[in-house]
Amino acid sequence: MISNLIYSNDVDATLNAIVGGGNYNLVVVLVDENTRQLVLPRLPILNNTQIIEIQSGDENKNLTTLKSVWQQLENLGATRQSLLVNLGGGVVTDLGGMAAATFKRGIHFVNVPTTLLAAVDAAVGGKTGINFMGLKNEIGVFACAEDVIVSTCFFDTLPPEELKSGFAEMLKHGMLSTHEEFLQLLETDFDNIDFENLLKILQSSIQVKQRIVEEDPTEKGLRKTLNLGHTVGHAFEMKALDDSKPVSHGYAVAWGLVIETVLSHMIKGFPSADLYSLANFVRTNYGSFKITCDDYDYLIGIMRHDKKSYNGEINCTLLKACGEPLIDNTISDDDIKAALDIYRDLMGI
Ligand code: GLY
Repeated sequence: MISNLIYSNDVDATLNAIVGGGNYNLVVVLVDENTRQLVLPRLPILNNTQIIEIQSGDENKNLTTLKSVWQQLENLGATRQSLLVNLGGGVVTDLGGMAAATFKRGIHFVNVPTTLLAAVDAAVGGKTGINFMGLKNEIGVFACAEDVIVSTCFFDTLPPEELKSGFAEMLKHGMLSTHEEFLQLLETDFDNIDFENLLKILQSSIQVKQRIVEEDPTEKGLRKTLNLGHTVGHAFEMKALDDSKPVSHGYAVAWGLVIETVLSHMIKGFPSADLYSLANFVRTNYGSFKITCDDYDYLIGIMRHDKKSYNGEINCTLLKACGEPLIDNTISDDDIKAALDIYRDLMGI
């Protein structure tokens, strides 16, 4: 259950080879309003293909949108010999992947992620799905795209915050990989990004995920390491939504990484110098998510209900050091509260 990963900024030629070599009776492209306007015109190979457009935004990653994609595939006469090309960010690749995996019990799909977050995470590794009853990615299937075309050439269509958001997942991969990779990422200057160089760094980052997914595609063990930063990150994301001040997923992951690294230091002896370097990088580039001690019980409540929690106990991936992840750690309320205190100190809140 592994996709063919192609790293290229010549996306048109790459798609041409895939579509031409596939003997498909119909090629359908799934876009949102942004990729339809900004990305599709850059891909002449898709000029005469059928288009399905969905609305951007995580709030549209739902059953209603999924149903409309199934309906349009049906109306267009798609069959098991058809191909769906998902051209967009994580909402398009998650929902499009699920639509393809379930339509007529599964048709081929290709992911062309157009955001860094989708390229480094959502489009790779076979997790597809939709949100349901207020729960993120609650319904979905593991299904791998035949091909994923990883490029950085569309990132100029994105606001700078979107790039930082995706970079947080790269930071996570660096911490799971090696100390050298972690330190190299901390040297990133977001004001001077070279997209060709970013493609190379992105390639080694995706390979970290790919190696893990190859060993544990359905998240029975090792793949849980990819949840680093996400137990706390999701809680921040939910709190921000609740306060009607949504934050992007990657920013929440960056703050979550700091807190889960504090926990790693407290419980597993993660080196303090690396914790300070991480906290400094995150504070400089992502700012801080403002919390007070009055928020602690609320945040703990969300963490207890996280998909990764078990028996109502908070569960986190921790690190003994960069490259030495430990899964299935139960965290006490007192430790979470202490880590949140230290996070506020580190972030100057
Ligand atoms: N986003 C984490 C995973 O794909 O397992």
